[in-house]
Amino acid sequence: MIEQKSMTSADLMKLEDQHGAHNYHPLEVVLAKGEGALVWDVEGKQYYDFLSAYSAVNQGHCHPRIVGALKEQADILTLTSRAFYNNVLGVYEKYITEYFGYDKVLPMNTGVEGGETAVKLCRKWAYEVKGVPTNQAKIIFVSGNFWGRTLAAISSSTDPSSTTGFGPYMPGYEIIPYNDLPALEAALKDPNVAGFMVEPIQGEAGVVVPDDGYLKSAYELCRKNNVLFIADEVQTGIARTGKLICCEHEGFKPDILILGKALSGGVFPVSAVLARDEIMLTIKPGEHGSTFGGNPLACKVAMAALEVVKDEKLSENAERLGQIFRERMSKLVEKSDLLTLVRGRGLLNAIVINDTPDSSTAWNICLALRDNGLLAKPTHGNIIRFAPPLVMTDEQLNDCCEIIEKTIMEFKA
Ligand SMILES: Cc1ncc(COP(=O)(O)O)c(C=O)c1O
Repeated sequence: MIEQKSMTSADLMKLEDQHGAHNYHPLEVVLAKGEGALVWDVEGKQYYDFLSAYSAVNQGHCHPRIVGALKEQADILTLTSRAFYNNVLGVYEKYITEYFGYDKVLPMNTGVEGGETAVKLCRKWAYEVKGVPTNQAKIIFVSGNFWGRTLAAISSSTDPSSTTGFGPYMPGYEIIPYNDLPALEAALKDPNVAGFMVEPIQGEAGVVVPDDGYLKSAYELCRKNNVLFIADEVQTGIARTGKLICCEHEGFKPDILILGKALSGGVFPVSAVLARDEIMLTIKPGEHGSTFGGNPLACKVAMAALEVVKDEKLSENAERLGQIFRERMSKLVEKSDLLTLVRGRGLLNAIVINDTPDSSTAWNICLALRDNGLLAKPTHGNIIRFAPPLVMTDEQLNDCCEIIEKTIMEFKA
């Protein structure tokens, strides 16, 4: 094995380039340690993490309670598969269903598996409960959506970098514009529509927040037409936007809720689909599953991660810090010629660069932010997402705002 300790950042980046697939374009920084809102590179330089592994590390890096749960369970029992019962799964299922207020949970691992599970569940419900003719069920998505990289996920994508070269795509989808209620109303006229799947705020598309009332009205339209409202809260869920789930801002409970990422605090891939019995019990033994889904390690990690969210009042922290952050950034937008606007909810925010969408300004600003001790990444076009861990303190946020303000004001395109 290679002696990793003596390697520099440059050595390690070269190794990835030579031996790994080139399916990512990381910012040039090689991280070796994380704690709370901070990370350190191989050379020991400290940074604020303003991405949180795409909102997986809401509870902060290496949270001692979550890592403690992982270590304790790792010595006892890690995986049984679902061929047998294990002594943690039922306890977790009771905990998470009561926590989010649903009858049942179906445990999976990654976010995209959660999305796949929701789509399958929705189709099954359509055939068995709604009475849609066999193989005719349709699910409505919106443009700009992102829920992962599997074929089912990219089949609903409107992003050419997700789809080009990977066809043919999965049938049974219809894509309508985001934030467009008349388009939804028209699409719902088809009696074979089974579900409407949507991110309450589009994360990957650039933290796109719909109009106030859009989600609630969409939910009501779905109800009126006997169509399931599926909320993909893999990125927006678990306190990120200042509420436990983002749909709470509009005061309704989705029929199917998909969670992932921060469900484990970034320690382990854990995802979940929650629904009421009428929907969940349409799937019978042998019809869906996963070797790792519901393993005792994941269950213990997820319970610890959810306890941290409640005990440390992370929703409240995200809401309060988010308001401070957007106020500071709005002032920066006024002062700087470089920025057009700041948008977001809680601690899921983005600044939009006043530039052509395909220029490299956002990327170059992220490099300058890195040099000044803060890590963020452009999302689609010339947009930078800002999503720090929710355990951030007021002092840390203040420090981060100063870094961003200084970097933007000194930046030369
Ligand atoms: C809204 C949303 N859904 C689903 C996913 C997929 O999650 P995963 O990468 O864990 O499969 C993502 C990933 O970024 C996401 O942002």
